[in-house]
Amino acid sequence: MHPLETLLAEAEGFAGPAPDAALWQRLDWLDRLERWLPEDEASPIAGPLRARRDEVEAVNQRLYVALRRDPARLRALLASHPGHGAPDAAEGFDARDELLAGVLDLPVPGAPRVPLAAGMVAYQPTPVRHVLDLLARTGLGADDELVDLGAGLGQVPLLVALCSPARARGIEIEPAYVAVAREAAQALGLARARFACADLRQADLSQGSVFYLYTPLRGALLEALLARLRAEAERRPLRIAGFGPCVEVLAAQSWLRPVGPVQPHRVAIFEGAAGAEAPSAE
Ligand SMILES: C[S@@+](CC[C@H](N)C(=O)[O-])C[C@H]1O[C@@H](n2cnc3c(N)ncnc32)[C@H](O)[C@@H]1O
Repeated sequence: MHPLETLLAEAEGFAGPAPDAALWQRLDWLDRLERWLPEDEASPIAGPLRARRDEVEAVNQRLYVALRRDPARLRALLASHPGHGAPDAAEGFDARDELLAGVLDLPVPGAPRVPLAAGMVAYQPTPVRHVLDLLARTGLGADDELVDLGAGLGQVPLLVALCSPARARGIEIEPAYVAVAREAAQALGLARARFACADLRQADLSQGSVFYLYTPLRGALLEALLARLRAEAERRPLRIAGFGPCVEVLAAQSWLRPVGPVQPHRVAIFEGAAGAEAPSAE
């Protein structure tokens, strides 16, 4: 059978009354359709397929709207993904990112208004499965506050507030991103997710029990931020979670010790190492 005919046959039942159960199938189907359809726009079944695509997208859209007010249902759905609980260490995004994008409905960011200085990293979101991995491994409670250092559009703090009892705070230099994140928190009724517009070089780090970095800074700027986090770690117990190239730098810090695996393309978690040497006075 031609791939487009197979797709049309497969889609039977997608618009049925149990939209949650078949979400992953529907997203996979849409993904394959997007790859095949442009190749065969002239095919006689392209029209029926486009009509079916519109129906399937409308079913997903209704589900996303319902999930905005039902975090427990969102959590159950995320946990039903075939990859749940077996985090791969691969790059890239999967259907969980599509689901969260549908629920959060964040606008595509325009060009930043604040130009980033050398050593500052542009916006790129952490894939959802890695945030879920972080949540599973940190077991955040109601007394915790996760601080996302360089929070972009706020996806990590929003997901933390949706999926855990912890408070979550994002610190981001770009005011337009902060405005989007605050608006999303308000629309979702997430009072536990807050956002500050600040430069990490001066931002207040005195609150927070877990600091998350998806490599917002590099080189000397990252080292300076870590020196400030070290000073905080001398005052109170805290954990630092990293993703991306900053993990290598975190792993090299004598005052941090890894909690669990440290591997490429996976969140690595560290805590202040007891007995770490005090920073030299130089
Ligand atoms: C790689 S993105 C990570 C986004 C988000 N943490 C996530 O994981 O989805 C890095 C973010 O850090 C922000 N950033 C870079 N330099 C910064 C600085 N000096 N102060 C605050 N935010 C900064 C960028 O604007 C960008 O949104």
